[in-house]
Amino acid sequence: MIEFFKEYLPYLKNYKRKLFLAIFGMILVSISTAAVAYLVKPVMDKIFVEQNVTMLYILPIFVILAFFGKAVGSFLSSYYLTFIGEDVVRIIKNKMLKHIVSLDLDFHLNIHSGELISRITNDISRIKSAIASDAISFVRSFFTIIALIVVVVYQSPKLALFSIVIIPMAFFPIKIISKKIKILSKESQEQNSKLTSSLSEIFNNYEMIKAYNSQDYEQKRFEKENLNYFKINMKSVKQQQLLSPIFEILGAISIVSVILFGGREVLITHELTTGGFFSFLTALSLLLDPIKKISNSYSKFQIAVAANERIKEIMMHPVMIKTGYKKIEKINNLKFKNVDLLYGNKKALNNINFTAKKGEVIGFVGDSGGGKTSVVNLLLRFYDPSNGSIYIDDKDLKYFDLKDFRNHVCVVSQRVYIVNDTIAANIAYGKDRDDKKIQYALEKANLWDYVKNLDNGLDTVLDESGTNLSGGQRQRISIARALYRNPDILILDEATSALDNKSEASIMKTIYAIKDELIVFIAAHRLSTVKNSDKILVFEHGNIVCEGNIDFLKETCESFKKLYMGHNLV
Ligand SMILES: Nc1ncnc2c1ncn2[C@@H]1O[C@H](COP(=O)(O)OP(=O)(O)O)[C@@H](O)[C@H]1O
Ligand SMILES: [Mg+2]
Repeated sequence: MIEFFKEYLPYLKNYKRKLFLAIFGMILVSISTAAVAYLVKPVMDKIFVEQNVTMLYILPIFVILAFFGKAVGSFLSSYYLTFIGEDVVRIIKNKMLKHIVSLDLDFHLNIHSGELISRITNDISRIKSAIASDAISFVRSFFTIIALIVVVVYQSPKLALFSIVIIPMAFFPIKIISKKIKILSKESQEQNSKLTSSLSEIFNNYEMIKAYNSQDYEQKRFEKENLNYFKINMKSVKQQQLLSPIFEILGAISIVSVILFGGREVLITHELTTGGFFSFLTALSLLLDPIKKISNSYSKFQIAVAANERIKEIMMHPVMIKTGYKKIEKINNLKFKNVDLLYGNKKALNNINFTAKKGEVIGFVGDSGGGKTSVVNLLLRFYDPSNGSIYIDDKDLKYFDLKDFRNHVCVVSQRVYIVNDTIAANIAYGKDRDDKKIQYALEKANLWDYVKNLDNGLDTVLDESGTNLSGGQRQRISIARALYRNPDILILDEATSALDNKSEASIMKTIYAIKDELIVFIAAHRLSTVKNSDKILVFEHGNIVCEGNIDFLKETCESFKKLYMGHNLV
């Protein structure tokens, strides 16, 4: 818990004025509460025992003032601490997303998106409630306890000794219960992530679920996880609620002993006035509430501590692909030298060697699983080679500024990401909008004829899943997006496989028209896509088995011939 505070305390620096008001509010609450307890004495003694009529009119004013102070203090502390809590959480969410998107592709492939969503939403909101409500309750109760103890001790130090011993007695159950709550809370958050993951899977694969009639199967799977979640939460609630009866019992013990011993002092030894006794009793019963609250918020804090551990797991996750510092003007040539790539223990590429220079189109062919996309992953520096190196203009790729490098490389793959925005925004994606250039890119991607006839033209809004576009049109959006960036290296990874032969041919024509200015890599199944490449690399089980232009391969490469058996290779 101390760790938790250490981490979040620095954030509080930005809220000095608000923090001051919140603490002022808390002190006001505690003093007012103590005042209410203290006032019982004069009310009893002056009004009822001494029958003083002036006091009958004066004391209520003080009582009202005390309650008013409590109300104002309560508002100030709750409002400003909630403000701080919400704001800190907002900042952490931003930081978290920033870190998550900076993490390597490998990290994202190995974690479910639902899990990340759950951490960024659920876990963080648990921290918010810790800062905003549990911390308020904790600190406010702490001040109130101190103020009430002052009243208790002031009225009767001897009686105070009897009653306040319950505070240390309460310590052990709190300690044990809090520990249990922390463990359960972590379980509950993990289970919550599973639920979110399961939901996002269902919503993302809705078409398949309908088509395969697997609604019942998915429903059962969800219900099982949901029931687990419920069970874990109930266990945790049970622990939290156990605190309450424990305190009731301890409270009853102390009140009974006060009545017994205090009563004796009033009736027999006359060391205490009736008013003093009731003031004491009021303070004592008022004490029970903040003690209960303080233990409650302490145990609830464990929920936030558990959430924080899960958030830290992500925030501490290291970025393996580190950026270099060299800037790029223009990429003129590229070389793979003895490159291996391992995914975990699995070798995906073995001793890859090739060169490419500006103006060349390089084709990648081979069975699926051959390693074509893995080379693309290396070209984008999604992964670094496990062995060997990649050189850009004879310098190791690792030394270049990663962002700058990726600005010079564009990839179009089978997976097309459509943003819920206009066509223009989808093409300019992340860059400034320039309608002339957008039109040019769309023309080159063979989509302009379609776009110009739309009612809203470039301003037509595309929906996220791209349902107002056909598969081929989506693909062409993504090709236009790549062309708009004017890259030095353009990679098409099965990018035209969703297109009909005619559209594909027209895009290939475009690419050959601009190829002098860049290096183009085309990974494809269809022979027609790569047949005009300056060089074709044939992949087989992570090796390049042959290399050359189509005429050369037709003559010499057995693997190539096997791959296109039945095709008219002449
Ligand atoms: N992220 C990954 N983690 C583990 N193995 C992978 C990963 N990506 C690809 N592979 C494996 O690496 C091999 C090469 O895959 P890939 O490069 O995608 O082939 P291609 O694009 O030629 O079809 C395959 O056996 C594939 O299962
Ligand atoms: Mg592939």
